[in-house]
Amino acid sequence: MNTITKSIQSDEDRYQLPTYAKFPISIERGQGCYVYDQEGEKYLDFYAGHAVTSTGHCHPRVVEAIQEQASRLIFYSNVAYNGVRARAVRKLVEMAGQPYYQAFLVNSGSEANENAIKLARAISERREIISTVGSFHGRSYGALSSTGIPKYANYLNTPVPRHRILPMGEVAAAVSTETAAVLIEPIQSMAGVREIPPSHLSQIHQACKKHGALLIFDEVQTGVARTGSFLYAGRENVYPDMVTLAKGIASGFPAGALLVTGALAKGVEKGDLGTTFGGGPLACAAMEATLEVIEAENVAENAARLGAYLKKALCSFQGIEQVQGRGLLLGLKLAGEIKAKDLQRALLDRRILTGTSVDPQVLRLMPPLTLTQHEADVFVEAVKTL
Ligand SMILES: Cc1ncc(COP(=O)(O)O)c(C=O)c1O
Repeated sequence: MNTITKSIQSDEDRYQLPTYAKFPISIERGQGCYVYDQEGEKYLDFYAGHAVTSTGHCHPRVVEAIQEQASRLIFYSNVAYNGVRARAVRKLVEMAGQPYYQAFLVNSGSEANENAIKLARAISERREIISTVGSFHGRSYGALSSTGIPKYANYLNTPVPRHRILPMGEVAAAVSTETAAVLIEPIQSMAGVREIPPSHLSQIHQACKKHGALLIFDEVQTGVARTGSFLYAGRENVYPDMVTLAKGIASGFPAGALLVTGALAKGVEKGDLGTTFGGGPLACAAMEATLEVIEAENVAENAARLGAYLKKALCSFQGIEQVQGRGLLLGLKLAGEIKAKDLQRALLDRRILTGTSVDPQVLRLMPPLTLTQHEADVFVEAVKTL
């Protein structure tokens, strides 16, 4: 680490609360699937700032849209109509497709989940929210009360009442006429990229329909093309009543959304939900450009194809027991004593960024969705020659 990086590190460590274990580098620039540190050293980014930079770093179309919008209007709230908001929200709802009819634009994944929970309780006039062991839904109070990972959830010493966190296999049987909603993360990323078995999803969906409970998918990670289709919703013919999105939705500009069906939208009135910054013009410019790139560059197909390629190539390696996940949300389940943090360190030494998870044996891969075949090959070769 050179002296400039050391001074950056010492200022961040001195003045920022010590809430994150950080990579020992300072990332100052990004282009496509690469980021560059203070010294100009190049890193292949299989982390994407935590599954965020969907269109790659600084995609020219996204940069241009943000720059153009910044010079026109940085902010005005939802109290007035605005052209870029109109275009972005229309594109979002159209790309989500049926049965999603309207969106509430927010700033983050936690805020999207918080509003989904609130809306479910208000519309159903019930209180109980069921979520699953292993899920992560965010750090705000309702979202964290639904989070099934003790490492995070235990920080709340008093969760919001009437939140129940159950093993996936027990959820369907637990749904009753008391249940306002079931909140599911279809691929539990933080827990180690664990996909919910399709049979459980169908059973939960049926149980929700039977008892009049709402089904919410937290697609903060799986959404916006990461798992090979614009939404995970729709697989196994399961269309949840609400879908929450954030992370990749605006290529890294803070933004999120709550998608609801037409039936639910009818239950929302003026003043029910609100946010100052959600749906701001700059966020919407970034979102519109991101969605256009996703469509124009067939990003979902790319994620599906390269995800399948990586899965096939990596699962044959000694030391990798299994490759979990879909599209470009993958978890390398390591065999025996190999720890994900050691593999992450070894890859960092080769200038490749990856993520760990709550499971010490799972290394997470969540690169930009614009990853190229060559970049996928560079990654495979690096793992092969470790
Ligand atoms: C599945 C999921 N839901 C919700 C969140 C919370 O999103 P945010 O950090 O934008 O509040 C995250 C963040 O990692 C997430 O992975």
